[in-house]
Amino acid sequence: MSERLPHDLNCLTISELQKHAAVMMDKQTRDYYNEGSDSGSTLQENLDAYAKYRIRPRVLRDVSKIDTSVNIFGHKNAIPLGVAPTAMQRLAHSDGELATARACKKMGIAMGLSSFATTTLEDVAEANGENPHVLQLYLFEERDHSVKLLKRAKEAGYKAVFLTVDTPILGRRNLEIRNQFKLPAHLKIPNFEEQGDKKPEAEAEQRGQGKTRRGSEAGYTDSEGKRVVPTGPITFHSHAANPTLSWERDIEWLKKECGNEMQVWVKGIATAEDALLAVHHGVDGIVVSNHGGRQLNGALATLDALPEVVAAVQGKIPVHVDGGIRHGTDVFKALALGADFVWIGRPVLWGLAYKGQEGVELCLRLLSDEIRLAMGLAGVTKVDEISKEYLVKIDKSGFVARL
Ligand code: FNR
Ligand code: LAC
Repeated sequence: MSERLPHDLNCLTISELQKHAAVMMDKQTRDYYNEGSDSGSTLQENLDAYAKYRIRPRVLRDVSKIDTSVNIFGHKNAIPLGVAPTAMQRLAHSDGELATARACKKMGIAMGLSSFATTTLEDVAEANGENPHVLQLYLFEERDHSVKLLKRAKEAGYKAVFLTVDTPILGRRNLEIRNQFKLPAHLKIPNFEEQGDKKPEAEAEQRGQGKTRRGSEAGYTDSEGKRVVPTGPITFHSHAANPTLSWERDIEWLKKECGNEMQVWVKGIATAEDALLAVHHGVDGIVVSNHGGRQLNGALATLDALPEVVAAVQGKIPVHVDGGIRHGTDVFKALALGADFVWIGRPVLWGLAYKGQEGVELCLRLLSDEIRLAMGLAGVTKVDEISKEYLVKIDKSGFVARL
């Protein structure tokens, strides 16, 4: 279907989309969306890791019928790719998460919604219709907020919760600090609106405009070793990071809260050891992720972490990956290394900034077309045929090795 639509002659690749988006966004938004933590080397390595692999194409295989679809959460997804949860999408476009949801629905692609969305989870669920949507969860130190959020997510039909586990502490994002990032006054984080401190002066403080300038405070451990939980209005700076999270206590708790209605996944696994713990603690799936290079800078690229996670999990639960995916051949390579599915973060934000819903559709269409092309030219007609037989690895000196 997507092939028959006319091309946008100004934007034929995700890298062109990135360039268009850059001029559409204000500096604070562009920096917040695009930067990685510290020097940004992990962000860069997420991208570069894909160039270490090349595809071994097979020929004369009748590729006249290619099926790019996969099954996820009981639904047919048009391609083995979903939209990763990214916070505050109304910074990119006034329709924000609604535009993303509508585009996902139109394209038949799963959507992840950030806890720190600028649209309610109910509105996103409605816009996304029957299409699967998952809720990214920052499990707060104050459980009440999370309990309420989970209840709402169940009622709105979310299929799964992706617990983000790579944020015990927020990574250091220097541009965010330098720009003194603040959510503009007209935007809200409505998933917590009823729960935060709604006094007007508190809201002003949240934006750094209060008289006292106290604002929200992140949690901390005091001099006597006692934990003080975050206070004030709920912002991602104050409430997202939770250094107290642990496998033993919190995964059990979350599984109970989600019951049979929502699956529990962990997002932010980068090692075989943690993958084994995830299986041991009965989670339903893993997303190999380093938060798009925004958390531990110096951490390994997600594509480099993927093989050890896949080997450890041995097919017991699905393994997904995100980070640095910018082309259909990247998707092919990730699947060939054993991922069941991939997610993209920034490209969707660029699509949103470029043209709202139309821009997200364009982003998804470019990737869909590239995935189909990569499959056909590599000689596969079904997603589950993609395996490491189709890859070689190029080492530092340029030598090629079969996997
Ligand atoms: C994110 N990501 C993220 N992850 C999460 O679990 N909760 C969140 O609220 C956010 N917010 C967020 C904002 C922005 C601006 C970015 C760029 C990323 C991480 C996201 O889900 C995903 O892991 C990465 O974006 C994947 O990397 P790429 O595709 O951006 O390279
Ligand atoms: C970020 C948080 C919100 O990466 O996840 O900016």
